[in-house]
Amino acid sequence: MAKFIINGRKPLSGEIEVLGAKNAALKIFPAALLTNGVIRVSNLSQLEDCLKAEELLEFLGYEISKKGERTIEIKEKRFSRVDLPESIMNKFRASIMFVGPVLVKRGEVKFPHPGGCVIGASVRPIDMFLEGFKKMGAALKISDNHYYLKAKKLKGADIFFPKVSVTATESLMMTAVLAEGETILKNSAMEPEIVALADYLNKSGAKIKGAGTPTIIIKGVKKINGGEYEIIPDRIEAGTFAMLAAASNSGDIHIKNCRPEHLESLWALFDRVGINYVLYKNSFVIKRSKKLLSCDITTHEYPGFATDLQPPYTVLMTQTKGSSLIHETIYDRRLLYADMLTQMGANIVMADPHRAVVNGPTRLKGKKLISPDLRAGIALVMAGLIAEGKTEIDNIYQIDRGYEKIDERLKKLGADIKRVESS
Ligand code: EPZ
Repeated sequence: MAKFIINGRKPLSGEIEVLGAKNAALKIFPAALLTNGVIRVSNLSQLEDCLKAEELLEFLGYEISKKGERTIEIKEKRFSRVDLPESIMNKFRASIMFVGPVLVKRGEVKFPHPGGCVIGASVRPIDMFLEGFKKMGAALKISDNHYYLKAKKLKGADIFFPKVSVTATESLMMTAVLAEGETILKNSAMEPEIVALADYLNKSGAKIKGAGTPTIIIKGVKKINGGEYEIIPDRIEAGTFAMLAAASNSGDIHIKNCRPEHLESLWALFDRVGINYVLYKNSFVIKRSKKLLSCDITTHEYPGFATDLQPPYTVLMTQTKGSSLIHETIYDRRLLYADMLTQMGANIVMADPHRAVVNGPTRLKGKKLISPDLRAGIALVMAGLIAEGKTEIDNIYQIDRGYEKIDERLKKLGADIKRVESS
Protein backbone atom coordinates (compact mmCIF):
# COMPACT_ATOMS: atom_id res chain seq x y z
CA MET A 1 0.00 0.00 0.00
CA ALA A 2 1.18 3.55 -0.67
CA LYS A 3 1.25 6.33 1.89
CA PHE A 4 1.70 10.11 2.08
CA ILE A 5 4.53 11.69 4.06
CA ILE A 6 3.73 15.33 4.90
CA ASN A 7 5.88 17.96 6.59
CA GLY A 8 3.39 20.52 7.82
CA ARG A 9 3.10 24.28 8.26
CA LYS A 10 4.59 25.20 4.90
CA PRO A 11 3.00 28.44 3.61
CA LEU A 12 0.52 27.62 0.83
CA SER A 13 -0.33 29.99 -2.02
CA GLY A 14 -0.93 30.06 -5.77
CA GLU A 15 -3.47 28.36 -8.04
CA ILE A 16 -5.14 24.93 -8.06
CA GLU A 17 -7.54 23.63 -10.72
CA VAL A 18 -10.71 21.69 -9.84
CA LEU A 19 -11.27 18.51 -11.87
CA GLY A 20 -14.45 16.79 -13.12
CA ALA A 21 -16.88 15.65 -10.40
CA LYS A 22 -16.54 11.98 -9.37
CA ASN A 23 -20.24 11.85 -8.46
CA ALA A 24 -21.26 13.20 -11.85
CA ALA A 25 -18.90 10.92 -13.82
CA LEU A 26 -20.08 7.74 -12.09
CA LYS A 27 -23.62 8.20 -13.46
CA ILE A 28 -22.90 8.59 -17.17
CA PHE A 29 -21.65 4.99 -17.38
CA PRO A 30 -24.95 3.35 -16.35
CA ALA A 31 -26.83 5.99 -18.38
CA ALA A 32 -24.87 4.86 -21.44
CA LEU A 33 -26.74 1.52 -21.30
CA LEU A 34 -29.96 3.39 -22.18
CA THR A 35 -28.49 4.98 -25.27
CA ASN A 36 -28.62 3.94 -28.95
CA GLY A 37 -25.54 5.73 -30.17
CA VAL A 38 -22.13 7.06 -29.17
CA ILE A 39 -21.57 9.14 -26.03
CA ARG A 40 -18.57 11.45 -25.85
CA VAL A 41 -17.61 12.17 -22.22
CA SER A 42 -15.19 15.04 -21.48
CA ASN A 43 -13.55 16.52 -18.37
CA LEU A 44 -13.32 13.00 -16.91
CA SER A 45 -11.08 12.65 -13.84
CA GLN A 46 -8.75 9.66 -13.60
CA LEU A 47 -10.26 8.09 -10.46
CA GLU A 48 -10.38 4.49 -9.27
CA ASP A 49 -14.19 4.38 -9.02
CA CYS A 50 -14.57 5.70 -12.59
CA LEU A 51 -12.22 2.98 -13.85
CA LYS A 52 -14.40 0.39 -12.11
CA ALA A 53 -17.52 1.85 -13.74
CA GLU A 54 -15.78 1.59 -17.13
CA GLU A 55 -14.85 -2.04 -16.34
CA LEU A 56 -18.49 -2.85 -15.54
CA LEU A 57 -19.70 -1.20 -18.74
CA GLU A 58 -17.17 -3.17 -20.83
CA PHE A 59 -18.21 -6.38 -19.06
CA LEU A 60 -21.79 -5.66 -20.20
CA GLY A 61 -20.68 -5.42 -23.84
CA TYR A 62 -19.71 -1.78 -24.39
CA GLU A 63 -16.59 -0.36 -25.97
CA ILE A 64 -14.77 2.59 -24.36
CA SER A 65 -12.13 4.39 -26.42
CA LYS A 66 -9.83 7.13 -25.17
CA LYS A 67 -10.05 10.29 -27.30
CA GLY A 68 -7.84 12.53 -25.16
CA GLU A 69 -6.37 12.84 -21.65
CA ARG A 70 -9.84 13.45 -20.16
CA THR A 71 -12.16 12.42 -23.02
CA ILE A 72 -13.61 9.01 -23.86
CA GLU A 73 -16.20 7.69 -26.29
CA ILE A 74 -18.66 4.96 -25.25
CA LYS A 75 -20.53 2.78 -27.71
CA GLU A 76 -22.38 -0.51 -27.65
CA LYS A 77 -20.57 -3.54 -29.04
CA ARG A 78 -22.95 -6.29 -27.97
CA PHE A 79 -25.13 -5.57 -24.91
CA SER A 80 -26.84 -8.85 -24.06
CA ARG A 81 -25.72 -9.81 -20.52
CA VAL A 82 -28.12 -9.43 -17.63
CA ASP A 83 -25.82 -10.40 -14.74
CA LEU A 84 -23.71 -7.86 -12.82
CA PRO A 85 -20.54 -9.54 -11.48
CA GLU A 86 -19.88 -9.69 -7.74
CA SER A 87 -16.17 -9.04 -8.39
CA ILE A 88 -16.96 -5.51 -9.61
CA MET A 89 -20.23 -4.81 -7.74
CA ASN A 90 -18.44 -5.44 -4.46
CA LYS A 91 -15.91 -2.72 -5.10
CA PHE A 92 -18.04 0.39 -5.36
CA ARG A 93 -21.46 1.38 -4.10
CA ALA A 94 -22.42 3.32 -7.20
CA SER A 95 -22.46 0.01 -9.16
CA ILE A 96 -26.11 -0.19 -8.01
CA MET A 97 -26.80 2.46 -10.68
CA PHE A 98 -26.36 -0.15 -13.45
CA VAL A 99 -29.31 -2.26 -12.24
CA GLY A 100 -32.15 -0.06 -13.56
CA PRO A 101 -30.76 0.46 -17.08
CA VAL A 102 -30.04 -3.29 -17.53
CA LEU A 103 -33.55 -4.09 -16.28
CA VAL A 104 -35.34 -1.61 -18.56
CA LYS A 105 -33.27 -2.54 -21.62
CA ARG A 106 -33.05 -6.33 -21.19
CA GLY A 107 -36.19 -7.08 -19.15
CA GLU A 108 -34.23 -8.77 -16.39
CA VAL A 109 -31.15 -8.31 -14.16
CA LYS A 110 -29.24 -10.40 -11.58
CA PHE A 111 -26.88 -8.80 -9.06
CA PRO A 112 -25.35 -9.11 -5.57
CA HIS A 113 -25.70 -6.47 -2.86
CA PRO A 114 -23.29 -3.68 -3.84
CA GLY A 115 -20.29 -3.61 -1.52
CA GLY A 116 -21.59 -6.32 0.80
CA CYS A 117 -23.84 -9.36 1.14
CA VAL A 118 -27.65 -9.26 0.95
CA ILE A 119 -27.90 -10.04 4.66
CA GLY A 120 -25.76 -6.98 5.47
CA ALA A 121 -28.13 -4.74 3.54
CA SER A 122 -28.62 -2.54 6.58
CA VAL A 123 -25.08 -1.10 6.12
CA ARG A 124 -25.82 0.58 2.77
CA PRO A 125 -29.50 -0.29 2.06
CA ILE A 126 -30.95 -0.53 -1.44
CA ASP A 127 -34.61 -0.90 -0.41
CA MET A 128 -35.64 2.31 -2.20
CA PHE A 129 -34.13 1.05 -5.48
CA LEU A 130 -35.94 -2.30 -5.16
CA GLU A 131 -39.26 -0.69 -4.12
CA GLY A 132 -39.04 1.68 -7.08
CA PHE A 133 -38.42 -1.07 -9.63
CA LYS A 134 -41.27 -3.15 -8.14
CA LYS A 135 -43.62 -0.13 -8.41
CA MET A 136 -42.64 0.04 -12.09
CA GLY A 137 -43.79 -3.56 -12.52
CA ALA A 138 -40.67 -5.66 -11.85
CA ALA A 139 -40.89 -8.96 -9.96
CA LEU A 140 -38.17 -9.39 -7.30
CA LYS A 141 -36.66 -12.69 -6.14
CA ILE A 142 -33.76 -13.03 -3.67
CA SER A 143 -31.74 -16.23 -3.58
CA ASP A 144 -28.15 -17.47 -3.21
CA ASN A 145 -27.19 -14.00 -1.98
CA HIS A 146 -28.33 -12.36 -5.24
CA TYR A 147 -31.26 -10.18 -6.30
CA TYR A 148 -33.22 -11.09 -9.46
CA LEU A 149 -35.51 -8.50 -11.07
CA LYS A 150 -37.72 -9.34 -14.08
CA ALA A 151 -40.12 -7.13 -16.05
CA LYS A 152 -41.37 -7.60 -19.63
CA LYS A 153 -41.96 -3.86 -19.87
CA LEU A 154 -41.40 -1.35 -17.06
CA LYS A 155 -44.31 1.04 -16.60
CA GLY A 156 -44.22 4.59 -15.25
CA ALA A 157 -45.14 4.88 -11.54
CA ASP A 158 -45.68 7.39 -8.76
CA ILE A 159 -42.71 6.92 -6.37
CA PHE A 160 -42.10 8.67 -3.03
CA PHE A 161 -38.61 8.33 -1.51
CA PRO A 162 -38.90 7.86 2.26
CA LYS A 163 -35.31 9.17 2.53
CA VAL A 164 -33.49 11.54 0.22
CA SER A 165 -30.95 9.57 -1.81
CA VAL A 166 -28.89 10.94 -4.69
CA THR A 167 -28.22 7.59 -6.37
CA ALA A 168 -31.77 6.31 -5.84
CA THR A 169 -33.12 9.51 -7.44
CA GLU A 170 -30.69 9.24 -10.37
CA SER A 171 -31.29 5.51 -10.80
CA LEU A 172 -35.06 5.72 -11.03
CA MET A 173 -34.92 8.92 -13.08
CA MET A 174 -32.73 7.34 -15.76
CA THR A 175 -34.63 4.02 -15.71
CA ALA A 176 -37.97 5.83 -16.13
CA VAL A 177 -36.65 7.45 -19.35
CA LEU A 178 -37.39 4.19 -21.26
CA ALA A 179 -40.38 2.97 -19.18
CA GLU A 180 -43.88 3.15 -20.67
CA GLY A 181 -45.85 6.19 -19.53
CA GLU A 182 -45.19 8.80 -16.88
CA THR A 183 -43.12 8.44 -13.69
CA ILE A 184 -43.29 10.96 -10.85
CA LEU A 185 -40.44 10.91 -8.32
CA LYS A 186 -41.21 12.71 -5.04
CA ASN A 187 -38.85 13.74 -2.23
CA SER A 188 -36.03 13.52 -4.79
CA ALA A 189 -32.47 14.65 -4.13
CA MET A 190 -31.56 18.01 -5.73
CA GLU A 191 -27.78 17.82 -6.18
CA PRO A 192 -26.23 19.63 -9.20
CA GLU A 193 -25.01 16.25 -10.49
CA ILE A 194 -28.68 15.20 -10.90
CA VAL A 195 -29.46 18.32 -12.93
CA ALA A 196 -26.39 17.69 -15.11
CA LEU A 197 -27.51 14.08 -15.74
CA ALA A 198 -31.07 15.16 -16.60
CA ASP A 199 -29.79 17.89 -18.96
CA TYR A 200 -27.65 15.31 -20.78
CA LEU A 201 -30.53 12.79 -21.04
CA ASN A 202 -32.93 15.47 -22.33
CA LYS A 203 -30.39 16.52 -24.97
CA SER A 204 -30.38 12.83 -26.03
CA GLY A 205 -34.18 12.74 -26.42
CA ALA A 206 -35.48 12.03 -22.91
CA LYS A 207 -38.40 13.98 -21.43
CA ILE A 208 -37.43 14.89 -17.84
CA LYS A 209 -38.87 17.88 -15.95
CA GLY A 210 -38.08 19.12 -12.43
CA ALA A 211 -34.53 17.79 -11.91
CA GLY A 212 -33.02 19.89 -9.09
CA THR A 213 -36.40 20.12 -7.34
CA PRO A 214 -38.04 17.56 -5.00
CA THR A 215 -40.47 16.43 -7.74
CA ILE A 216 -39.16 15.01 -11.01
CA ILE A 217 -41.56 14.00 -13.83
CA ILE A 218 -40.32 11.68 -16.56
CA LYS A 219 -42.34 10.84 -19.68
CA GLY A 220 -41.12 7.50 -21.08
CA VAL A 221 -39.79 7.48 -24.68
CA LYS A 222 -38.96 4.60 -27.03
CA LYS A 223 -35.25 5.35 -27.34
CA ILE A 224 -32.61 8.01 -26.74
CA ASN A 225 -29.55 8.78 -28.88
CA GLY A 226 -25.92 9.44 -27.94
CA GLY A 227 -24.48 12.88 -27.34
CA GLU A 228 -21.85 14.94 -25.56
CA TYR A 229 -21.50 14.87 -21.76
CA GLU A 230 -19.10 17.38 -20.23
CA ILE A 231 -18.64 16.50 -16.57
CA ILE A 232 -19.31 19.42 -14.22
CA PRO A 233 -16.51 20.58 -11.87
CA ASP A 234 -16.32 18.75 -8.55
CA ARG A 235 -17.96 21.01 -5.95
CA ILE A 236 -16.61 18.78 -3.16
CA GLU A 237 -13.03 19.22 -4.40
CA ALA A 238 -13.58 22.97 -4.69
CA GLY A 239 -15.04 23.21 -1.17
CA THR A 240 -12.26 21.07 0.24
CA PHE A 241 -9.55 23.30 -1.28
CA ALA A 242 -11.40 26.37 0.04
CA MET A 243 -11.25 25.01 3.57
CA LEU A 244 -7.61 23.96 3.24
CA ALA A 245 -6.74 27.51 2.16
CA ALA A 246 -8.72 28.99 5.06
CA ALA A 247 -7.22 26.61 7.65
CA SER A 248 -3.66 27.17 6.39
CA ASN A 249 -4.31 30.94 6.25
CA SER A 250 -0.83 31.53 4.88
CA GLY A 251 -1.40 33.14 1.48
CA ASP A 252 -3.91 33.82 -1.30
CA ILE A 253 -5.09 30.63 -3.04
CA HIS A 254 -7.01 30.82 -6.34
CA ILE A 255 -9.26 27.80 -6.91
CA LYS A 256 -10.04 27.59 -10.64
CA ASN A 257 -12.40 25.75 -13.05
CA CYS A 258 -15.27 25.47 -10.59
CA ARG A 259 -18.85 26.65 -10.03
CA PRO A 260 -19.04 28.84 -6.85
CA GLU A 261 -22.85 28.79 -7.17
CA HIS A 262 -22.76 25.08 -6.16
CA LEU A 263 -21.28 26.06 -2.78
CA GLU A 264 -23.79 28.63 -1.47
CA SER A 265 -23.98 26.88 1.94
CA LEU A 266 -20.18 27.15 2.30
CA TRP A 267 -20.04 30.90 1.53
CA ALA A 268 -22.79 31.52 4.09
CA LEU A 269 -20.62 29.69 6.66
CA PHE A 270 -17.43 31.49 5.59
CA ASP A 271 -19.17 34.84 6.23
CA ARG A 272 -19.87 33.74 9.80
CA VAL A 273 -16.38 32.30 10.37
CA GLY A 274 -14.86 35.53 9.05
CA ILE A 275 -12.97 34.08 6.08
CA ASN A 276 -11.84 36.50 3.40
CA TYR A 277 -12.85 35.33 -0.08
CA VAL A 278 -13.69 36.71 -3.51
CA LEU A 279 -16.05 34.85 -5.90
CA TYR A 280 -15.80 34.94 -9.70
CA LYS A 281 -17.91 33.13 -12.31
CA ASN A 282 -15.74 29.99 -12.61
CA SER A 283 -13.29 30.41 -9.74
CA PHE A 284 -12.73 31.99 -6.34
CA VAL A 285 -9.85 33.26 -4.22
CA ILE A 286 -9.38 32.54 -0.50
CA LYS A 287 -7.34 35.34 1.03
CA ARG A 288 -5.62 35.59 4.42
CA SER A 289 -8.10 36.34 7.21
CA LYS A 290 -7.49 38.12 10.51
CA LYS A 291 -9.47 36.13 13.09
CA LEU A 292 -11.39 32.92 12.40
CA LEU A 293 -14.46 32.27 14.57
CA SER A 294 -16.00 28.87 15.30
CA CYS A 295 -19.41 28.15 13.75
CA ASP A 296 -21.79 25.18 14.19
CA ILE A 297 -22.85 23.08 11.19
CA THR A 298 -25.47 20.44 10.49
CA THR A 299 -25.00 18.40 7.33
CA HIS A 300 -28.00 18.35 5.03
CA GLU A 301 -28.99 17.28 1.55
CA TYR A 302 -28.27 19.82 -1.22
CA PRO A 303 -28.46 22.82 -1.15
CA GLY A 304 -27.64 22.38 2.57
CA PHE A 305 -24.11 21.78 3.84
CA ALA A 306 -22.74 18.65 2.14
CA THR A 307 -21.84 15.64 4.27
CA ASP A 308 -18.79 15.16 2.00
CA LEU A 309 -17.46 18.53 3.22
CA GLN A 310 -17.99 17.77 6.91
CA PRO A 311 -14.53 16.22 7.60
CA PRO A 312 -12.57 19.12 5.99
CA TYR A 313 -14.81 21.58 7.87
CA THR A 314 -14.03 19.90 11.19
CA VAL A 315 -10.30 20.33 10.52
CA LEU A 316 -10.93 24.01 9.76
CA MET A 317 -12.81 24.38 13.07
CA THR A 318 -9.71 23.18 15.00
CA GLN A 319 -8.10 26.45 13.84
CA THR A 320 -10.95 28.80 14.80
CA LYS A 321 -11.63 30.58 18.10
CA GLY A 322 -14.44 29.12 20.18
CA SER A 323 -16.64 26.02 20.23
CA SER A 324 -18.36 24.54 17.18
CA LEU A 325 -20.91 21.71 17.06
CA ILE A 326 -20.49 19.39 14.08
CA HIS A 327 -23.76 17.49 13.54
CA GLU A 328 -23.57 14.71 10.90
CA THR A 329 -27.15 13.78 9.94
CA ILE A 330 -26.68 11.77 6.72
CA TYR A 331 -24.31 8.89 7.48
CA ASP A 332 -23.39 6.81 10.50
CA ARG A 333 -19.68 6.48 11.18
CA ARG A 334 -18.77 9.65 9.33
CA LEU A 335 -17.19 11.20 12.43
CA LEU A 336 -14.87 8.28 13.25
CA TYR A 337 -11.82 10.22 11.98
CA ALA A 338 -12.34 12.86 14.74
CA ASP A 339 -10.42 10.58 17.11
CA MET A 340 -7.37 10.84 14.84
CA LEU A 341 -7.54 14.64 14.95
CA THR A 342 -7.62 14.39 18.75
CA GLN A 343 -4.45 12.28 18.59
CA MET A 344 -2.91 15.20 16.62
CA GLY A 345 -3.76 17.59 19.45
CA ALA A 346 -7.23 18.80 18.45
CA ASN A 347 -9.71 19.39 21.27
CA ILE A 348 -12.77 17.41 20.10
CA VAL A 349 -15.45 15.92 22.34
CA MET A 350 -17.84 13.33 20.86
CA ALA A 351 -21.27 14.25 22.27
CA ASP A 352 -22.79 11.17 20.54
CA PRO A 353 -21.98 9.17 17.37
CA HIS A 354 -23.49 11.96 15.21
CA ARG A 355 -22.30 15.08 17.08
CA ALA A 356 -18.80 16.36 17.83
CA VAL A 357 -17.85 19.57 19.68
CA VAL A 358 -14.61 21.18 18.46
CA ASN A 359 -12.86 23.70 20.73
CA GLY A 360 -10.22 25.85 19.08
CA PRO A 361 -7.82 27.08 18.11
CA THR A 362 -5.31 24.27 18.82
CA ARG A 363 -1.87 23.58 17.36
CA LEU A 364 -1.91 20.21 15.63
CA LYS A 365 1.12 17.89 15.71
CA GLY A 366 2.04 15.39 13.01
CA LYS A 367 1.10 11.72 13.57
CA LYS A 368 1.08 8.32 11.85
CA LEU A 369 -2.49 7.82 10.56
CA ILE A 370 -4.52 5.48 8.36
CA SER A 371 -7.14 6.91 5.98
CA PRO A 372 -10.56 5.35 6.81
CA ASP A 373 -12.45 6.64 3.75
CA LEU A 374 -12.04 9.21 0.99
CA ARG A 375 -13.56 12.27 2.69
CA ALA A 376 -11.93 11.58 6.07
CA GLY A 377 -8.72 10.82 4.18
CA ILE A 378 -8.51 14.24 2.56
CA ALA A 379 -9.30 15.82 5.95
CA LEU A 380 -6.27 14.01 7.42
CA VAL A 381 -4.14 15.38 4.55
CA MET A 382 -5.43 18.86 5.42
CA ALA A 383 -4.60 18.32 9.10
CA GLY A 384 -1.08 17.11 8.18
CA LEU A 385 -0.49 20.20 6.03
CA ILE A 386 -1.29 22.57 8.92
CA ALA A 387 0.26 20.45 11.72
CA GLU A 388 3.77 20.87 13.11
CA GLY A 389 6.21 18.16 12.09
CA LYS A 390 5.72 14.98 10.08
CA THR A 391 2.43 13.21 9.33
CA GLU A 392 2.24 9.79 7.67
CA ILE A 393 -1.07 8.72 6.12
CA ASP A 394 -1.46 5.09 5.07
CA ASN A 395 -4.16 3.45 2.89
CA ILE A 396 -4.17 6.44 0.53
CA TYR A 397 -6.00 4.32 -2.06
CA GLN A 398 -9.08 5.72 -0.33
CA ILE A 399 -7.92 9.29 -1.03
CA ASP A 400 -6.98 8.52 -4.65
CA ARG A 401 -10.57 7.30 -5.13
CA GLY A 402 -11.86 10.86 -4.89
CA TYR A 403 -8.94 13.22 -5.52
CA GLU A 404 -6.80 12.70 -8.62
CA LYS A 405 -3.01 13.08 -8.12
CA ILE A 406 -3.73 15.18 -5.03
CA ASP A 407 -0.10 15.14 -3.85
CA GLU A 408 1.20 16.58 -7.14
CA ARG A 409 -1.50 19.27 -7.15
CA LEU A 410 -0.86 20.30 -3.53
CA LYS A 411 2.90 20.44 -4.13
CA LYS A 412 2.21 23.24 -6.65
CA LEU A 413 0.77 25.28 -3.75
CA GLY A 414 3.99 24.83 -1.76
CA ALA A 415 2.99 21.75 0.25
CA ASP A 416 5.73 19.35 1.34
CA ILE A 417 3.93 16.05 0.56
CA LYS A 418 5.47 12.86 -0.85
CA ARG A 419 3.87 9.60 -2.01
CA VAL A 420 5.90 6.54 -0.97
CA GLU A 421 5.21 2.81 -1.24
CA SER A 422 4.65 1.59 2.33
CA SER A 423 6.82 -1.40 3.30
C1 EPZ B 1 -24.46 10.27 -2.88
O1 EPZ B 1 -24.74 9.16 -2.13
C2 EPZ B 1 -22.96 10.32 -3.09
N1 EPZ B 1 -22.51 9.14 -3.83
C3 EPZ B 1 -22.26 10.38 -1.74
O2 EPZ B 1 -20.89 10.58 -2.01
C4 EPZ B 1 -22.75 11.61 -0.99
O3 EPZ B 1 -22.15 11.63 0.30
C5 EPZ B 1 -24.28 11.53 -0.85
O4 EPZ B 1 -24.87 11.44 -2.16
C6 EPZ B 1 -24.85 12.76 -0.18
O5 EPZ B 1 -24.51 13.88 -0.88
C7 EPZ B 1 -22.61 9.12 -5.17
O6 EPZ B 1 -23.16 10.03 -5.80
C8 EPZ B 1 -22.03 7.93 -5.87
P1 EPZ B 1 -27.13 6.69 -0.30
P2 EPZ B 1 -26.27 8.70 -1.99
O7 EPZ B 1 -26.37 5.44 -0.11
O8 EPZ B 1 -27.16 9.83 -1.63
C9 EPZ B 1 -30.46 5.91 2.67
C10 EPZ B 1 -18.63 10.25 -1.65
O9 EPZ B 1 -17.94 10.38 -0.64
N2 EPZ B 1 -30.89 4.90 1.70
O10 EPZ B 1 -28.28 6.66 -1.19
O11 EPZ B 1 -26.64 7.95 -3.18
C11 EPZ B 1 -29.05 5.66 3.20
O12 EPZ B 1 -29.06 4.79 4.30
C12 EPZ B 1 -19.97 9.56 -1.56
O13 EPZ B 1 -18.36 10.66 -2.78
C13 EPZ B 1 -31.92 4.02 2.05
O14 EPZ B 1 -32.42 4.06 3.16
O15 EPZ B 1 -26.14 7.80 -0.72
C14 EPZ B 1 -28.62 7.08 3.59
O16 EPZ B 1 -29.16 7.40 4.84
C15 EPZ B 1 -20.23 9.06 -0.17
N3 EPZ B 1 -32.35 3.13 1.13
C16 EPZ B 1 -29.30 7.95 2.51
O17 EPZ B 1 -30.36 7.15 1.98
C17 EPZ B 1 -31.84 3.07 -0.14
O18 EPZ B 1 -32.31 2.26 -0.96
C18 EPZ B 1 -28.34 8.33 1.36
O19 EPZ B 1 -27.54 7.20 1.15
C19 EPZ B 1 -30.79 3.96 -0.48
C20 EPZ B 1 -30.34 4.87 0.45
